[in-house]
Amino acid sequence: MLAASPELTINKLPKSLHPLSVAPMMDRTDRHCRYFLRQISRRTLLYTEMVTSMAILNGDRQKLLGFDRSEHPLALQIGGDKPQDLAKCAQIAAEFGYDEVNLNVGCPSSRVQSGNFGACLMLQPEHVAECIAAMIVATKLPVTIKHRIGVDEVDNYEALARFVSIVSQTGCQRFSVHARKAWLQGLSPKENREIPPLRYDLVHQLKQDFPQLLIEINGGFTSLEQVQTQLEVVDAVMIGRAAYDNPYLLADVDREIYGESTPIPSRDQIATAMLPYIDDWITSGGRLNSITRHMLQLFHGQPGSRIWRRIITEQSVLLGAGTEVIERALSRSTQE
Ligand SMILES: Cc1cc2nc3c(=O)[nH]c(=O)nc-3n(C[C@H](O)[C@H](O)[C@H](O)COP(=O)(O)O)c2cc1C
Repeated sequence: MLAASPELTINKLPKSLHPLSVAPMMDRTDRHCRYFLRQISRRTLLYTEMVTSMAILNGDRQKLLGFDRSEHPLALQIGGDKPQDLAKCAQIAAEFGYDEVNLNVGCPSSRVQSGNFGACLMLQPEHVAECIAAMIVATKLPVTIKHRIGVDEVDNYEALARFVSIVSQTGCQRFSVHARKAWLQGLSPKENREIPPLRYDLVHQLKQDFPQLLIEINGGFTSLEQVQTQLEVVDAVMIGRAAYDNPYLLADVDREIYGESTPIPSRDQIATAMLPYIDDWITSGGRLNSITRHMLQLFHGQPGSRIWRRIITEQSVLLGAGTEVIERALSRSTQE
């Protein structure tokens, strides 16, 4: 068994500061989605969608990286494989006010592979360590990593532990581990989130063997009971699809996971809290649908869910649509 370096001294991330996070999800966890989720839980750590280092360095930064202050605590996830580019991006993340910067070593899409980043980097732990080390030098922010338990045929625990050992020697302390391997050929990204079996035992073993690291487990969690059970074994849990498909799942988090005594917001209160934000967005020329598409599942499992979704879907795209659509959907869905 490979142990982590005894000289490890960098300790930027207090233990269990973030026992729960919402996973980075392309085309989902954009700023509107995060603002919405923030109305449901004040404490959960939120991640951006993955933004590539090329986009950050060459694109419209304000558009790509801008966020509302209320979204804190917020981590920027970056995709890339060039240490100096990533270092520059980490600096930029700090200038923008992010709380954490995370390197994506878990995405299996072919677009990402052709850039030699994402999950294929799991096969190059020394290179990943170079990337992370450059980022750590460039910023005071905690630099974290999200990865898989393996790729292709390299899916044994020894290879995983070797990866974590090598990367942790840079001082990287938080490892978010999607408890599935990725098949780089033959499976789509969606299939790679469903077909390879979940191996929570491997992530638990990592925590046993690297007790000084923050190990976050990810993959397939759908309830806070499951989260609590995992927190007995690992430091944190990351939820992706379930938080998007049933966002009200997060309503109990501040009390149940963070021990706060703040009242649980009702679904109506959450929708109503979005109105000033939506007004501002529309006044600045934005479209209602950009925000409301993330709110469709607010009433997931409730009697008024169908009518809520129907009104929002049909009416948010109409020319000139504004907050009255939300008010109408709220009043109709609560009559159900
Ligand atoms: C639509 C979608 C987009 C995703 N985009 C990213 C991404 O940008 N970066 C990343 O590291 N993982 C991404 N993932 C993977 C999730 O972060 C997470 O690891 C995966 O969904 C497993 O967690 P879950 O079972 O709780 O959903 C994405 C997942 C989905 C469903």
